[in-house]
Amino acid sequence: MPATAEATHDVVVLGGGSGGYACALRAAELGLSVALVEKDLLGGTCLHRGCIPTKALLHAAEVADAAREAGRFGVRATFEGVDLPAVTAYREGVVARLHKGLQGLVSGRKVEYVEGTGRLDGPHTVVVGDRRLVGRHVVLATGSYARTLPGLELGGRVVTSDQALGLDEVPGRVVVLGGGVIGVEFASVMRSFGSEVTVVEALPRLVAAEDPASSKALERAFRKRGITVRTGARFASATDGADAVAVRLEDGTELEADLLLVAVGRGPVTDGLGYEEAGATVERGFVVTDERCRTGVEGLWAVGDIVPGLQLAHRGFAQGIFVAESIAGLEPAPVVESTIPRVTYCDPEVASVGLTEEQAREVHGDAVEAYEYNLGGNGKSQILGTQGFVKLVRVTDGPVVGVHMVGSRMGEQVGEAQLIVGWEAHPEDVTPFVHAHPTQNEALGEAHLALAGKPLHAHN
Ligand code: NAI
Repeated sequence: MPATAEATHDVVVLGGGSGGYACALRAAELGLSVALVEKDLLGGTCLHRGCIPTKALLHAAEVADAAREAGRFGVRATFEGVDLPAVTAYREGVVARLHKGLQGLVSGRKVEYVEGTGRLDGPHTVVVGDRRLVGRHVVLATGSYARTLPGLELGGRVVTSDQALGLDEVPGRVVVLGGGVIGVEFASVMRSFGSEVTVVEALPRLVAAEDPASSKALERAFRKRGITVRTGARFASATDGADAVAVRLEDGTELEADLLLVAVGRGPVTDGLGYEEAGATVERGFVVTDERCRTGVEGLWAVGDIVPGLQLAHRGFAQGIFVAESIAGLEPAPVVESTIPRVTYCDPEVASVGLTEEQAREVHGDAVEAYEYNLGGNGKSQILGTQGFVKLVRVTDGPVVGVHMVGSRMGEQVGEAQLIVGWEAHPEDVTPFVHAHPTQNEALGEAHLALAGKPLHAHN
């Protein structure tokens, strides 16, 4: 940094979401002096508008379904409906407890928490109101916002996930625009809460970043749940009228709804914050970095959703920790994007790590084998009444490079899958490990048994 400016802190972090606060906490733990600047609430999107509150909604949805379907398990119960203000109170309680805990961590580790909107003034200075925080290192972690489409104005019945969290009544009919992660999670919640739901997705399949087998299984399950799925359908326009919102698709179809939920991706928050002026390269709003989260400007780093790649909280945590350790001189290993697990928490859940079969074939040609273990053979999945599979993708005579799973609660299995892919295990390395019976985890073990040529409860 220039000799003229005196550093006020070792590290100034701009943005108190997953990436930013993880960086601040780890840096403080390593003995560095840290300022953390946040304009809204500590915890950011993940804690207040994203991961945590939406998963609380999904849990309430699961409880509603359990009540509705209790008779299937021989239990007499009556489902009387969803009290959304009470769901909100439950969700807010979860968030408030975690928020309080996080505030305790930040103050306990002596991070200076600076409330206000920060802006870069050169690579080492963050201006917040009339304060100038000068860091030997500055970490950009300003996160993302829910995008909409050109000509589609938000407001009234046209909402993003931000407003959909706080509904006080269950809408009768919902059109979800976008069949990506947010779209299918909300479609799942709203259906369980009792809405008629239509998902409109421009691409030929839902959750298009996943293996096509996962998309197919999810679409089938959604149809069975009474969710209308319109793939290959492009949105044309929407008119928010007195009684309903009219949604037109490019093929001329007209849909009427009480709520239009726009879930067409999240854009980076980087506009007008002085990043380019400080020398960072910004492309389509994203801050370009190398694999070590460096912007190319000495002492200026970027983490989380503003960096191109998976927009996931746990990637943000990992990058934040990585940068803090790099600044402290620990020389940590960079975060490997390909072994970051992905879980979509709709019902049924979709979870994966590593390459899809198609991607594996692009890398390894014909030397790729795939095996799908059907949850029909898994005792615990039968007990729960869920359908789905575990699909393994391996290099012939080589390691497992991708694991794809569909089924209620299967997201919980992604940890072992991640170790298998990350440690480049062969199916034969996994089979000696006995999986507990009866668990859904067993399905992962059985898939490896089958791929190693010794299937147990497998019909194919
Ligand atoms: P997304 O990129 O996953 O999905 C957006 C979808 O909208 C795409 O499939 C796209 O083809 C479709 N779309 C775009 N324009 C369209 C049009 N004109 N007509 C019809 N369809 C159109 O983005 P999403 O779902 O908004 O999520 C944003 C980010 O948040 C993602 O990166 C996601 O990974 C992350 N997230 C992760 C969660 C998790 O890990 N469980 C939960 C929620 C969000």
